[in-house]
Amino acid sequence: MTFLNKYQQQPNIDSDLRTLLRNATHTYHVQLNQHPLLAGLTKPDYPLANYRKLLLAYFHLYQALEDQISQFISTQSCEFDYTARYKTPWLLKDIAFFKDDPHASGNVPCLVMVLPEITDIGQLIGVLYVLEGSTLGGQLIFRSLVNYHGLNHNEGACFFNGYSEHAQLMWQDFLCFSDIIFGDDAQCQAAKIAACQTFQLFKQILDDPASQEKVHS
Ligand code: HEM
Repeated sequence: MTFLNKYQQQPNIDSDLRTLLRNATHTYHVQLNQHPLLAGLTKPDYPLANYRKLLLAYFHLYQALEDQISQFISTQSCEFDYTARYKTPWLLKDIAFFKDDPHASGNVPCLVMVLPEITDIGQLIGVLYVLEGSTLGGQLIFRSLVNYHGLNHNEGACFFNGYSEHAQLMWQDFLCFSDIIFGDDAQCQAAKIAACQTFQLFKQILDDPASQEKVHS
């Protein structure tokens, strides 16, 4: 499969790094799944008003993170191609479907975001682990949005459709790339810290007063 060959090795799906990142962030993942804006996202009675708040919060978060990712990748001889992975345009498409304005007052985070630093490859991998990993759970969420709310890729659920049938392939491609720091303890630690900071940023943005306003529980 040429997709995987570009990193000159096979993906080590259950590599120590992936296990390290999954274990380090497990508690954050569980906590986030219980957040009022995310809990119930796979249930029939999840309020669409919350979904719209979630999309707006995610837009600001992903825009800030993807700016940092593209800045780092453009200044490094980094083999990773993020081009097909930008998620901010997917969020904008969903937000436009609901006719919301991400820049309207009340839709912009009140607090200054505490962004993870991306100045080395380990930090990049840590941030990407969170963003790319979340597309896996996104598939489950997408099916619920289709079944319970009548949304689809072109009507409000482009972001959670994500890579769609390519989700596993894109994930494996990322894991394959992440193997380039396998065995480098310093970079693996940097990845772990960046992954934890990224999860904390999700919590910060979902807890922001702008996201909490008029949330239905
Ligand atoms: C209600 C919201 C969420 C649900 C229901 C959910 C569900 C899931 C599920 C079922 C998986 C495993 C998928 C698979 O192995 O094929 C997964 C993986 C993952 N999710 Fe979530 N998720 C949610 C929110 C999030 C958020 C907000 C983030 C990021 C901030 C996130 C990050 C991850 C990561 C990094 C993985 C990969 C873990 C690994 O290494 O195996 N998830 N999620």
